[in-house]
Amino acid sequence: MSYFKNFGLDREPFSTSPDPSFFFLTKTHKTALTRLEISLRLKRGLNVVFGDVGTGKTTLSRTLIRNFTDDDDFEFHMIFDPGYKSEYQFLYALSKLFHIQEKAHSTTGSKYAIENFLFNKNLHRNKTVVLIIDEGQKLSSESLEILRVFLNYETNEHKLLQLIIFSQLELLPRLKVMPNFLDRISLKYVLEPLNAEEARSMIHFRLCKAGCSNPETLIEESAIELIYENSGGFPRKITYICRNAVERAIMNDQTFITCESIHNLINEDLLLNERRIFA
Ligand SMILES: Nc1ncnc2c1ncn2[C@@H]1O[C@H](COP(=O)(O)OP(=O)(O)OP(=O)(O)O)[C@@H](O)[C@H]1O
Ligand SMILES: [Mg+2]
Repeated sequence: MSYFKNFGLDREPFSTSPDPSFFFLTKTHKTALTRLEISLRLKRGLNVVFGDVGTGKTTLSRTLIRNFTDDDDFEFHMIFDPGYKSEYQFLYALSKLFHIQEKAHSTTGSKYAIENFLFNKNLHRNKTVVLIIDEGQKLSSESLEILRVFLNYETNEHKLLQLIIFSQLELLPRLKVMPNFLDRISLKYVLEPLNAEEARSMIHFRLCKAGCSNPETLIEESAIELIYENSGGFPRKITYICRNAVERAIMNDQTFITCESIHNLINEDLLLNERRIFA
């Protein structure tokens, strides 16, 4: 895009969409990814990845799916918004997701059809079925109970459904009062915010991905430090500040992001937030 050419880039460096190609493997993200891959390959069943708002859960889930693209033994299904209001709604959505043709006339019938589907895929077609649920904090207790039942479907060696739930931390206290569910979690992992060095590497990485050969020529070191301080190390906040900084630099015909420009942006954002509160 020519808009970014003026800034020495081929494309937008700090889009806030969950694009795996802009995903920088920090220690916490790399560990989560590796452990999830191992758990899926060993068909261990239930995995839950927690993380505060904007820590990279959705991007991580897409990166995981991308890493398995060439592996025909795996079949991925994804639910982006699991806020189902009833057991029936959830089972109906799952049947659709799995392309189950059989019409079920009761929730028991639906569960049976899904069990059949999982047996068939695993035992006759040699497929590992993976269900990824994003925004896991929206799962109702009824939906969690259904998932728990599915996790009981297993052969002597492994589970028939591989389930990964990505969730904000608010799900945790709800799971703590469901010992039946909690006990079945094979992998629990919490995504941590980035440290200062990782934040710096992430910013440089994204600039390079967008076509810059030497990111130090585009952003001042002290600007990165200020971004880190204000973001608390949360990737979305880092991305958001950087995106605004690039836009501002382009608008002002500048070819370099300074500490001063970050300082101004942060103050403007604070002012805007204050106005919203007092409106
Ligand atoms: N490791 C990373 N490297 C580069 N960018 C990242 C990384 N982690 C997150 N981001 C960026 O931060 C933003 C937020 O990420 P994402 O949407 O995956 O967070 P989330 O945890 O799913 O947030 P929410 O809790 O709101 O659903 C995205 O723009 C994403 O590209
Ligand atoms: Mg998300």
